[in-house]
Amino acid sequence: MFKQLFKTKSINAIMHESEDPNKQLKRSLGAFDVVLLGIGAIVGAGIFATIGTAAAGDLARPGAGPALMLSFVITAVACGFAALCYAEFAAMVPISGSAYTYSYGTLGELVAWIIGWDLIIEYAVGNVAVAVSWANYFKTFVAGFGIHIPGWMSTDYRTAAKIPGLFESAPHILGVPIVCNIPAIGIVALITTVLVIGIKESSRMNAVMVIIKIIILGFFIFIGVQYVKPENWSPFAPNGWSGIQAGAAVVFFAYIGFDAVSTVAEEVKNPKRDLPVGIIGSLIICTILYITVAAVFTGIIPYKALVKMLATQQAEPLTMAIHYANIEKYGNLFVGIIAFGSVIAHTAVLLVFQLGQPRIFFSMARDGLLPPKFAEVHPKFRTPYFATILTGTAVGVTAMFTSIDEMVDLTNIGTLFAFILVCIGILILRKREPDRPRAFKVPFVPFLPLMGIAACFYLMLGLPWITWVRFAGWLILGMLVYRSYGFKHSKLKSII
Ligand code: ALA
Repeated sequence: MFKQLFKTKSINAIMHESEDPNKQLKRSLGAFDVVLLGIGAIVGAGIFATIGTAAAGDLARPGAGPALMLSFVITAVACGFAALCYAEFAAMVPISGSAYTYSYGTLGELVAWIIGWDLIIEYAVGNVAVAVSWANYFKTFVAGFGIHIPGWMSTDYRTAAKIPGLFESAPHILGVPIVCNIPAIGIVALITTVLVIGIKESSRMNAVMVIIKIIILGFFIFIGVQYVKPENWSPFAPNGWSGIQAGAAVVFFAYIGFDAVSTVAEEVKNPKRDLPVGIIGSLIICTILYITVAAVFTGIIPYKALVKMLATQQAEPLTMAIHYANIEKYGNLFVGIIAFGSVIAHTAVLLVFQLGQPRIFFSMARDGLLPPKFAEVHPKFRTPYFATILTGTAVGVTAMFTSIDEMVDLTNIGTLFAFILVCIGILILRKREPDRPRAFKVPFVPFLPLMGIAACFYLMLGLPWITWVRFAGWLILGMLVYRSYGFKHSKLKSII
C-alpha cells in the first residue's frame, strides 16, 4: 500500500499518455493568448474589491494604509518565486494538470491527490468568491441605468440577515423567505456554455475582456493621479509592519491566477517558450498595474477618511476614490465606467478559473483517480465538456447561497499550499533528474525555491485559524474520497 501512495509517475510516462489522440485537446494558443489568459485570471475581485479593506483594516486585522503599495510588493515577491517554479515545470511537463501533475511526477500519488483536491479550493471555491463579487458590481452597474435588482434575488442568507427589512421583502414559501443570488449563477452558467463550445472562442472572449480591464485600470490611474495629494501618503504605515503583513495576506487573492496559465498547457502551440512567457509576463504586468493603482488610491483618500468609510463603500474602493475626489464634471460617468470595467474584469477571472478546474479533473481522471467520465472530450468541440459542466453547476449553485468573505481566505490558503508543493517539487526533480532537458530553469536553486516555500508559508500564517480548520477539514474529506475511489482505480496500481 505504501508503495502505491509514494510511487511517482515518470515524467516520460506523463508526457506519453497525453499523446493519445482520443484524449487530446486542441493546440491553438500562442504566447500572446497565454499572457492575456494570465492577466485575465489575475486582475479581478482582488484589485477591484479587496484593496479597500486591506488599506483600511477591519475588526479582525489592522490596515496597511498607504503602505498597501509595500504589501503588493511583498506578495509579488512571494508569487514571483512560485511563478519561476511553475514556469520551469510547465515548460518541462506541458500537461493540463498543473501542480497536480508536477506532484505526481515528483512527490508521489498521495501528494498528487492531495494537491489535485486542494486545487479545487483555488479554482472552484475562488470562483464562488469572484461570482458573488461579480454579482455585487453587476447590481451597482445596472442600477446606474435605473434597473434595480431586488436584494432577495441578489444575495445570500447570511448577508441578507445583516440588511434590515430584506427578509420581509422576499417572497415566502411555507413561511420561509426565498433568498438566493440569481446574477451569480447566471454569469457562471453563461461562462460554462462558452467553455464547452471551445477553447479558441473562450480565449477570444478573454482577450477582449483583458484589453477592456487594462484600459479601465489605466483610466482610473490617469484620472485619479490628477487628484492625488502627496501628503495623503503620510503616515506611510499607520499600523506598522502588522498592517503591511495583514494587507499582504489579503491582497494575495489579487495575484492568484498566473498559475492558472499552466492548466492550458496542452492547448498551447509552443509550450516550452509560451508558458514561461505567459506565467512570468502576466505576473510582472499585473504587479506594475497593482502598485500604481495602490499609489493612486491611497494618494486620493487619506487613511483617516478611509477608515471611516462604510464596509459597503470599502468593497468598491476604486469607485469610492472617484467619489471622494469629488470630480464635478463627468464624475458620475467615471464611476459608471469603472463599475463597468470591474464587471468585465470579474468575468475574465471567472472564465479562466472555470477553464482551469475541469482541466485538472481531466488529468486526474486520465490517471484513474477520478471516474473516466471526467476525461471525456466532446467529439465536436474537443473540450472536456463533462468536467466543465459539472464544475459550472457546483460553482453556480454554491455562489447562489454563500457570502464572499470566508471564500477568499480559504482560496488563499489552498493556493499558497499548492505553491509550496510546486517549489518542493522543483527541488526534488533537480536532484533526481538533473540532466532532464529544461526549456526554462529557475535560477539560484535551491535558494529561490526555498525562499518561495518560506514566503508562502509566512503568508499562510497571516490567515485566521478558522481558515486553517476549514482547510484541514477539506483535506480530510479528500482523503476519504481517495480511499474510496482513487486508491482502487489508480492506473499506477496496475504497474506496481
Ligand atoms: N486574482 C483573482 C481576482 O482578483 C482571483 O479576482
